[in-house]
Amino acid sequence: MSPSWTTPSASDGTSSSWLVHGLLAGATIVAAAGAYAVISTSRSAKFRSRVIGIIPARFSSSRFQGKPLVPILGKPMIQRIWERAKLATTIDKLVVATDDDRIAEICLGFGADVIMTSESCRSGTERCTEALQKLREKFDIVVNIQVDEPLIEPEIIDGVVKALQAAPDAVFSTAVTSLKPEDASDPNRVKCVVDTHGYAIYFSRGLIPYNKSGNVNRNFPYFLHLGIQSYDAKFLKIYPELSPTLLQLEEDLEQLKVLENGYKMKVIKVDHDAHGVYTSEDVEKIEALMRERNLS
Ligand SMILES: *[C@@H]1O[C@H](CO)[C@@H](O)[C@H](O)[C@H]1NC(C)=O
Repeated sequence: MSPSWTTPSASDGTSSSWLVHGLLAGATIVAAAGAYAVISTSRSAKFRSRVIGIIPARFSSSRFQGKPLVPILGKPMIQRIWERAKLATTIDKLVVATDDDRIAEICLGFGADVIMTSESCRSGTERCTEALQKLREKFDIVVNIQVDEPLIEPEIIDGVVKALQAAPDAVFSTAVTSLKPEDASDPNRVKCVVDTHGYAIYFSRGLIPYNKSGNVNRNFPYFLHLGIQSYDAKFLKIYPELSPTLLQLEEDLEQLKVLENGYKMKVIKVDHDAHGVYTSEDVEKIEALMRERNLS
């Protein structure tokens, strides 16, 4: 039987078939049914077993200068993400990759391993590639954990890793969650459509799919892309060398290069209330939410 990717909807009873409940931290991991068996037996899996988590962090950013160090309820954002990533059970080694001494110093201060990378890296992925090359140890999977999403659950990181371990035909894996209707037209919230086996078809800053009426269909389960992604380490070596592609440049979405070159990308659906931090207003929003939920 081929694995199936079931689209959940609030009104039908089939969604439970693709739910994997992660009990820690109240997170619910939702995966394609085909991945279920592998997720539950992953300890004995040998394929792509050595995993490194890399948190790429640069100081300069056109949108938000010094973002990794911005305090969120008094703690630097990068420390929050590092603490969450530390709880992921699939990761054998976790490092911060940065080009900035201020970031390095603070990360070393809270106990992180830091790898210095060059200022010329054009993206977080390139920073991961460079960090991987500087390490003496060998890894099979690299998880790119973005500073942007400080409330990411460790179960989601594990889910993305396990999805790649369970899909030998894919070189890349990532996660999506339900898109809130109010985020439908926000180009910073990237949308994703997947095939019936849970492989990515396309990512867009526009709303996909596009309803014939021209309006947002409130009954359609649109997917929001979460920045977390993992790569096959061999693929990561060639990824930055692949020339930029037409759709990638048009949308300014690096992951499109993977699809445009014909590689497969596995997508897991997770239940995660996304609170991406892209602007200073997002910091206020996330702090308000954490106070509300008594997270410290
Ligand atoms: C578009 O959205 C409406 C609800 O707003 C839905 O009834 C319809 O089936 C969707 N698709 C098309 C092709 O109209």
